[in-house]
Amino acid sequence: MKITIIGAGNMGGAIARGLAKSGHQSVTDITVSDPFGEKLHALKAEYPNINISDDNEEAVKGADYVILAVKPWLVGQVLRAIRLKGNQVLVSIASGISFEELAHDVMVREMPMFRVIPNTAISELESMTLIASRNTNKAQNLFVQDIFYEMGRIMFLDEEKLAAATALSSCGIAYVLKYIQAAMQAGIEMGIRPDDAMELVAQSAKGAAALILERHTHPAVEIDKVTTPGGITIKGINELEHAGFTSAIIKAMKESR
Ligand SMILES: NC(=O)c1ccc[n+]([C@@H]2O[C@H](COP(=O)([O-])OP(=O)(O)OC[C@H]3O[C@@H](n4cnc5c(N)ncnc54)[C@H](OP(=O)(O)O)[C@@H]3O)[C@@H](O)[C@H]2O)c1
Repeated sequence: MKITIIGAGNMGGAIARGLAKSGHQSVTDITVSDPFGEKLHALKAEYPNINISDDNEEAVKGADYVILAVKPWLVGQVLRAIRLKGNQVLVSIASGISFEELAHDVMVREMPMFRVIPNTAISELESMTLIASRNTNKAQNLFVQDIFYEMGRIMFLDEEKLAAATALSSCGIAYVLKYIQAAMQAGIEMGIRPDDAMELVAQSAKGAAALILERHTHPAVEIDKVTTPGGITIKGINELEHAGFTSAIIKAMKESR
């Protein structure tokens, strides 16, 4: 299968590197198109067999899958210029652009399309990637699933659920980082060096996530294990609740939808 990625920025670049690294796809079947050469030349230096182009229209010719990774406000203009055919599959990474809007710009109503929303951890192959589909078949779903499975975890959702799920996963990564930053500040006040504080908190966050993802337990079960009656952890947890921690997270996530 031939894949063309339009836009070699954070997302497009990470997807191209992830695809090339994973071995899921022969590197010679990957083309990346971007009007500005610098990012393309960096990619080519890492993966000499990758195809690069500064012409989107040329780059999509013969592509089976076209991954659109430009800023949302450029989507319409780029799609109208490349004039995709009905036998091609569009994979849009653009946040907030609906299937209806995409269909309007590709001008092929029945075109198989995916909306894919990774988060920034895709560069570390640790993304939580959301996928919604329209007019696609099983083989196409599997193909796209396999691409993004190589770059972290994936979840198929109905389009109506994408905004809420994005708040949890794409915006959510900033919430987790905000927690890490706040905990670091506490550590520094208590005399721990910033680099050490960062490592202590980040590895603890990674460990907490691993407990949930690998053991499939509930956070309450894992919290119960570290909250000895009369102990220091429950004191801290209750202090968080007095300060409105749970309520603040719920309100913030709903604002991010
Ligand atoms: N970052 C995230 O966390 C995240 C998460 C989920 C989804 N998304 C979505 O991913 C998309 C890309 O975001 P990003 O963060 O990767 O943006 P980005 O780093 O700005 O990448 C976009 C790339 O497209 C290039 N470009 C501009 N005009 C183009 C054109 N006409 N044809 C081809 N390429 C063109 C840009 O070049 P210049 O920089 O030179 O303009 C840039 O290299 C957005 O729609 C965003 O909503 C992002």
